[in-house]
Amino acid sequence: MPTPPLPTASALDTARLLMGVFLPTVAKGPIIRRPWAVGLAARLDLDSKAVGVVRTLHEKYPDGPLMLKLPIRKQAVVLAPADVDTVLAQSPEPFSPASSEKRAALSHFQPANVLISRGPVRTVRRALQEQVLDTSHPVHHLADRFVPIVEEEMQQLLTDAASSGSLPWGEFLDAWYRVVRRVAFGDHARDDKDLTAMMIRLRKDANWAFLKPVRRRTRRRLLQRISEELAHAEPGSLAAVMAAAPKGDGAEPAEQVPQWLFAFDPAGMATFRTLAVLATHPEAMAAARREADGDTSGRRFLPYLRAAVLEGLRLWPTTPMILRETTRPVQWEQGLMPAKCGVLVYAPYFHRDDRHLRSAHGFSPERWLTGEDDGWPLVPFSDGPVVCPGKQLVLLLTSAALAFLVSGQNFRIDQGQVLDPSRPLPGTLDNYSVRLAVSPRG
Ligand code: HEM
Repeated sequence: MPTPPLPTASALDTARLLMGVFLPTVAKGPIIRRPWAVGLAARLDLDSKAVGVVRTLHEKYPDGPLMLKLPIRKQAVVLAPADVDTVLAQSPEPFSPASSEKRAALSHFQPANVLISRGPVRTVRRALQEQVLDTSHPVHHLADRFVPIVEEEMQQLLTDAASSGSLPWGEFLDAWYRVVRRVAFGDHARDDKDLTAMMIRLRKDANWAFLKPVRRRTRRRLLQRISEELAHAEPGSLAAVMAAAPKGDGAEPAEQVPQWLFAFDPAGMATFRTLAVLATHPEAMAAARREADGDTSGRRFLPYLRAAVLEGLRLWPTTPMILRETTRPVQWEQGLMPAKCGVLVYAPYFHRDDRHLRSAHGFSPERWLTGEDDGWPLVPFSDGPVVCPGKQLVLLLTSAALAFLVSGQNFRIDQGQVLDPSRPLPGTLDNYSVRLAVSPRG
């Protein structure tokens, strides 16, 4: 007897998902955010509404992957928490992260990057990334070099902010980019805004995926520039680790690097958002300061602040859509998923599920320390074999930045959304419109 296909959403429910979840998420900019769209999403509460759309679908259809009724494309959405585990644990085979839209988008600046690779070269590229980023170690082996970089740049940021007494997102981002360039390439790249500008140009195109032609000349220039950095890598930088690392066939080291430059952006966003929440949540701020003041690790291992960043990313995940594509047909209890089928895990649906999570719309870093949500898909860095290999490095740098900032300064939201600990936190936190008032802690 032929295996039945998976249940399919009606045309109307498919349209609801496209309009209510895909459209606002893609409009915000999957590869580089569009500030106007983030602002609009915040004003119209589109991210909370998107969670509501997925919840309604889940209540209506059986508890398994649901196919969408689309004319050309095969696309499923994952509704059950256990199925998120299945998809992520069985990546990259048969659930490949190299989905067609991701390939189209990322090819604008890194066509041979691990994230959009398949087969044996993927294994080689992943191994290289893991080695350089020290994936399995909470404290990167270059932490002694990186943490002072973070502190110097945060100090410079505070010095610049002192004259006006206020800290807008744009100034924070400039400082963060200096951290990123120094960590990636070394001190000589600190003020190389041209490199960042090249990335920004290509990332803006990448937001349009196949709808925009690739700027081949700019991409060549970027990759050439990165190759030169690797050829003359500054000791103590990620580039130097990569230059020295053993590489398998097809590693394409230069093409692995743009992912760092691009992905450090959300880390900056997460830091700034977490700072805004700490500024408005006195208990969490007190816990953060207790940790920062009593730290004996040289700001290399700050569990509470790492948990605070994870919590910020739970509330406002910077990769809300985890996308996969099946490399072969996959049998589920509810039916057969075809080959070349797109699979969507919409993380906010699970991250904000107030039927299952304590304080789903509140700020509770403790959840990451107690293990109370173990088994529930809180996946800001994805999970399984394709989990973000930069996760620990991100947590190291972001927690060090926060420790430095909160230990010496008081922050208050001067401009931007209201974040009230006694009320649900908003579905979207528009970091672009936040301005923090800064004053010495005294
Ligand atoms: C807040 C910051 C970050 C978040 C939330 C994040 C999240 C993620 C997620 C969710 C994925 C999986 C994507 C997928 O499954 O489709 C991923 C992949 C990846 N991330 Fe990150 N990331 C961050 C920062 C970084 C940084 C700073 C680096 C490098 C320095 C990095 C390196 C990578 C790489 C190389 C991959 C591809 C892994 C693979 O295909 O096996 N990430 N990241």
